[in-house]
Amino acid sequence: MTPEHKQIVRSTWQQVTPIADQAARMFYDRLFELNPALEPLFADADMDTQRKKLLQSLGFVVNGLDDLEPVVVPVLETLGRSHVDYGVTDKDYDTVGDALLWTLEQGLGPAWTSEAEEAWSEAYTLVSGVMRDAAANPVQVH
Ligand code: HEM
Repeated sequence: MTPEHKQIVRSTWQQVTPIADQAARMFYDRLFELNPALEPLFADADMDTQRKKLLQSLGFVVNGLDDLEPVVVPVLETLGRSHVDYGVTDKDYDTVGDALLWTLEQGLGPAWTSEAEEAWSEAYTLVSGVMRDAAANPVQVH
């Protein structure tokens, strides 16, 4: 990602923060609208906690955009592997990406420029790519 795109992701994230919980609700509503089959995966989850975790993990990635390799990537790899146990499949990452970008578009209004869309697509592709790769490549036990 270019420094400009990282900056756009940071500044738009700041704009969403005041309405974060509402945005997280919209995100899950949109996700289950796009694919109702995903809702049962969250049957055991407390959605209040889940919304907080989603926001925390997104914030962690946004804040770590300059520190991906030593810090963020290993966390995402672990997260990607744990998602296999949650029943998440590779294509579900596309649906989550669509729901995320849609939510940002709603939340940001005029600040959702084509540049912002490009920057967030890159950020999500990066994050989901690390999770998907880790999910597809379990840790080797020697
Ligand atoms: C960028 C991508 C994603 C991020 C950052 C993310 C983040 C998280 C986090 C932080 C948790 C809390 C549990 C843990 O630490 O393992 C979690 C749980 C979970 N996520 Fe994701 N997730 C992502 C993608 C997805 C996708 C694509 C799905 C598919 C629908 C999904 C479904 C779930 C489910 C079902 C749980 C467990 C809920 C429970 O039973 O407690 N996530 N996710």
